[in-house]
Amino acid sequence: MSARAIVLAAGKGTRMKSARPKVLHELCGRPMLWWVLEALRGADVDDIVVVTNDELDPQVAPLGVRTVVQREQLGTGHAVRIALDELEARDGTLIVAYGDMPLVDPETFRAVRAARERDPRCAIALVTARMPLPSSFGRVLRADAAAKDAGSVLRIVEAKDCTPEQLAVDEMNAGIYAFDEAALREVAPRIGNANAQGEYYLTDAIELAIEAGRVVVPVGVADYRTVLGVNDRVELADAYALLNRRLCEEHMRAGVTICDPATTYLTPGVQIGRDAVIYPGTSIAGPTRIGEGSAIGPRSRIADSVIGAGCNIRESVVLSTRVGDDVRVGPFAHLRDGNVIGDRVRIGNFVEFKNAQIGDDVKANHLAYIGDATVGDRTNYGAGAITCNYDGVKKNRTEIGQDVFVGTNSSLVAPITLGDGSMTGAGSVVIRDVPPGDRHVGNPARSIAKKPAGT
Ligand code: UD1
Ligand code: MG
Repeated sequence: MSARAIVLAAGKGTRMKSARPKVLHELCGRPMLWWVLEALRGADVDDIVVVTNDELDPQVAPLGVRTVVQREQLGTGHAVRIALDELEARDGTLIVAYGDMPLVDPETFRAVRAARERDPRCAIALVTARMPLPSSFGRVLRADAAAKDAGSVLRIVEAKDCTPEQLAVDEMNAGIYAFDEAALREVAPRIGNANAQGEYYLTDAIELAIEAGRVVVPVGVADYRTVLGVNDRVELADAYALLNRRLCEEHMRAGVTICDPATTYLTPGVQIGRDAVIYPGTSIAGPTRIGEGSAIGPRSRIADSVIGAGCNIRESVVLSTRVGDDVRVGPFAHLRDGNVIGDRVRIGNFVEFKNAQIGDDVKANHLAYIGDATVGDRTNYGAGAITCNYDGVKKNRTEIGQDVFVGTNSSLVAPITLGDGSMTGAGSVVIRDVPPGDRHVGNPARSIAKKPAGT
């Protein structure tokens, strides 16, 4: 059966020192909160309420999740009460998690839920993790060996409320709980705020449940890094690196060579074919697909693009572009905004393409610009040649046929058409259409083909 969850995200996030709400800071191209929601959905939790604040609430709309606003941030215990008021009461498990733990995985949510449901007396199962010290996490205090309930969880103490002895405890409260909803509804209103921060701590629910004679079950995670919280920009960078590493590992396991995962930046949803090689300093983002055996990088940025098989893209930027097979790009090329490029095309240094439809076997090897243009198969586009697509008011198209030779430094003043097999001379300023097979040179460019007698 699917479960319900409350995700707390209303905190002020003061430690981020940011104008942006903490849970909307991005990691690998997605907001922090997205990662938590994704992990919950991966654990079959689909009825989710996010506790937001006034500023955050309108901004989470793109995530398509139900929200409730906590007007004043009085603590995690208070935030849960606001959510409980919003939710119709139901029997069963209610998961509570924080919006600032983007590394959490579906397995952790499944494990904590299963632990709670295994024992009907269990009011709360909570995830705990052993971590290196020092740490700002709440400490899990257990009954000592001599007590009759030896080893069982007694309560959580926030780092700010800890005695020096308690700070030495290395078992932390991860901030992931599976509650028996009825038990939570019973104890939540009894949580007070007599502590170092004057906040209502959700973690006090543990002690209150035990006092009420209920059972609390800890669920240890093997790798504490899955439950790291993000409270400042240092932790943000750490979490980013770990998530990115996870994405890289998925691709490496699927047959992609990533030379240096630490400097290769991926976003979820990127598809990379087998035997592709990604060189250092490369980012691949958005719904991008890279074909089998292609080599990307070093130092390249590919976003929202489709790259065919056997391509080689070096030190270049490719945005919203579709590239065929066996295409060479770079170094230092910039392909942007809606290009469709055929097979076996060569695009060399300092070449920019924008909104261009390029046929097969086209060459543009040096210092060229092709914007708002169509280029036919086998055309050679010379060094420094430019489509003058902007007349100061609007963009105009250039149509270049097949087997055309565009001479070095030609300026093609759009709108203009160069017919199949035509040619322009070096330095031509082409302001009139060039018929198929014709040769135009000069400024303004004129035909140098001999006209047949009598015409
Ligand atoms: C919390 C836990 C701590 C745990 C740690 C794990 C409490 C009291 N402490 O501490 O035991 O080790 O997480 O990361 O729960 N929030 C609200 N409304 C509020 C306050 C907070 O929605 O009034 C949200 C925040 O946006 C955040 C989450 O609750 O996403 C946790 O709050 P935060 O201030 O980050 O708590 P920690 O100090 O990290
Ligand atoms: Mg936190």
